[in-house]
Amino acid sequence: PGDRLEGLNLYLIGMMGAGKTTVGQELATRLGYRFFDSDMVIEQSTGQSITEIFATSGEAAFRQIESQVLAELASYTRLVIATGGGIVLQQMNWSYLRHGLIVWLDVPVDALYDRLKTDSSRPLLQQADPKHTLETLLNQRQSLYAQADLHVRIGVRETPEQICDRIL
Ligand code: S3P
Repeated sequence: PGDRLEGLNLYLIGMMGAGKTTVGQELATRLGYRFFDSDMVIEQSTGQSITEIFATSGEAAFRQIESQVLAELASYTRLVIATGGGIVLQQMNWSYLRHGLIVWLDVPVDALYDRLKTDSSRPLLQQADPKHTLETLLNQRQSLYAQADLHVRIGVRETPEQICDRIL
């Protein structure tokens, strides 16, 4: 399958907790591509955690850095990129995502919540009702995620390997 991609980058989009990083690493291994997680690139290049950036500079500043990182990554080929859940929010990001193949990992909110309920690394979920927040965010973003080239509906018991098989 790698041959048919002709070096195009693969962009994994979808909500926090959808498994973009895990699936992305597996995909990259199978394709012989390099793997990047946009949040990790942001943390390395700023020397701050995502939580710190949100707390000290705010979400708007984070979104700017996120776009810059995406633009930088899009200038390479043969990458698998796990993007942050909010990458779809900025119109300009789509021009970078469109350089490659966009894959939406679509996971039901209940499963997202199960995976994230004890997580403290997502600033947007550090509030009274994280499940409701997840529902609201998904409602706001669903039509954007749906603009992906591939829509992968993920079953609760599906393993990263099985998800990769289907994508490839
Ligand atoms: C966000 C998702 C996070 C991170 C930030 C904001 C979002 O990335 O970029 O906390 O707006 O959905 P993951 O999708 O990798 O958790």
